[in-house]
Amino acid sequence: MAVLFLAAALAGCAESEIPQGMRILDGDPETGARHIREYGCPACHTIPGIRSAKGIVGPPLNKFALRAYITGQYPNTPDNLVRWIMDAPAMAPQTPMPDMGIPEDEARHIAAYLYTLR
Ligand code: HEC
Repeated sequence: MAVLFLAAALAGCAESEIPQGMRILDGDPETGARHIREYGCPACHTIPGIRSAKGIVGPPLNKFALRAYITGQYPNTPDNLVRWIMDAPAMAPQTPMPDMGIPEDEARHIAAYLYTLR
């Protein structure tokens, strides 16, 4: 019983470190980190916590949870971030970031990971 309570308390604590408006309730950051490697984001981005992610084609994604805007243009909300990850050119036709055909559930896990970065 005590152990269960402690686990719940710790989980609650980790959750509350992510700013409220940026929580992706059904996204799992660990699964997101796996998808980030699978989809090759590291080739273009430097991403803290992903060892292979040293790319410099796109901007570094450090402190992403603290950024006000995505690419300096779109408010950094969970909805916008998930849309961006799923199909960036649909939002910004001129962007060099490709549409990688990422399904929404996987994009939500990836967004959840990016919102752990602060
Ligand atoms: C072929 C290179 C490339 C790949 C692969 C790529 N990106 Fe990008 N990404 C870019 C570029 C270039 C930009 C800047 C786009 C712009 O300003 O229009 C960008 C922008 C972003 C941004 C906004 C950054 C900011 O500073 O606001 C995020 C978030 C992002 N990418 C996440 C991802 C994720 C997650 C993946 C993997 C699923 C990924 N990218 C794969 C090239 C790439």
